[in-house]
Amino acid sequence: MASFIQNPSDITLLSQYVAEACCIHLGEEKGYLFESRLGTMIAQSGAVDIPDFIRMARTDPTNRIRDRIIDAMTTHETYWFRDERPWTSLRQRVLPELATLPATTGRSRIRILCAACSTGQEPYSLAMLIDMLFADGKTRPEQFEIIGTDVSAGTLMLANNGRYNQIEITRGLAEIWRQRYFTQNGAIWSVADRIKSRVTYKRHNLQDDLKPLGMFDLIFCRNVAIYFKADFKARLFDRLAAALHPGGRLLLGGSESLLTHGDLFASESIGEAIFYRRKP
Ligand SMILES: C[S@@+](CC[C@H](N)C(=O)[O-])C[C@H]1O[C@@H](n2cnc3c(N)ncnc32)[C@H](O)[C@@H]1O
Repeated sequence: MASFIQNPSDITLLSQYVAEACCIHLGEEKGYLFESRLGTMIAQSGAVDIPDFIRMARTDPTNRIRDRIIDAMTTHETYWFRDERPWTSLRQRVLPELATLPATTGRSRIRILCAACSTGQEPYSLAMLIDMLFADGKTRPEQFEIIGTDVSAGTLMLANNGRYNQIEITRGLAEIWRQRYFTQNGAIWSVADRIKSRVTYKRHNLQDDLKPLGMFDLIFCRNVAIYFKADFKARLFDRLAAALHPGGRLLLGGSESLLTHGDLFASESIGEAIFYRRKP
């Protein structure tokens, strides 16, 4: 296929558009990604050049072009129980502590946000862990409300379907979880209805206000801030702090840390993982 990207200003235009749409900053050196991920879409769009393609995306009243660009340019890598350490801390301490909240706060629900949850492995891992942990019935797993959000509509649709192929199902998931929480139909594994029903998916761009999602006791925001610029990250962490109840915790990805915001968060080592606790 002929290259649609003719000169550096095309890459600048595409980069600007993607940054505006979802805050992902792709430098000039990542120009090849536009070619490989958008090439077919641009070719089929009927646009005569990149400025024309961007104009089409901006003026499309259905936002379909914008959504397809976001789907294509975001990285959706994820797997079950990603990075073992925080899951051990969640199991041993964080979730049992959260389970006491209804009694101490009078709130009936324990609310957890999985921001930028990709195809659902993270929120479903959490829902399975909660189900396994509170199997004794003293705490009802349904008291935990899990909201999974992502900017990518296509990704959320896959999360909502809760169906995984043979490769996806094995990445990070031990046999015991698969047997207990999935049904197999040929090469497709479907997450059990009772786990699925405990996760609600909503489309949300981390650029936008979190208030419509309500307040949370625990927020996962993992392996997404690495794609954002420092000033956007700072504003995002302010907004995440505002969406956490005092004492609520924020969990970032294994390679991410929160070196700023000492006034809002206290870092807390739990087992071998670091959580960031919302100061009162
Ligand atoms: C690498 S995945 C991480 C998935 C999961 N949190 C994990 O750690 O396995 C990053 C996700 O962030 C989403 N994302 C990127 N920019 C976003 C934004 N501005 N708002 C919300 N989600 C975004 C992408 O669509 C993608 O699904």
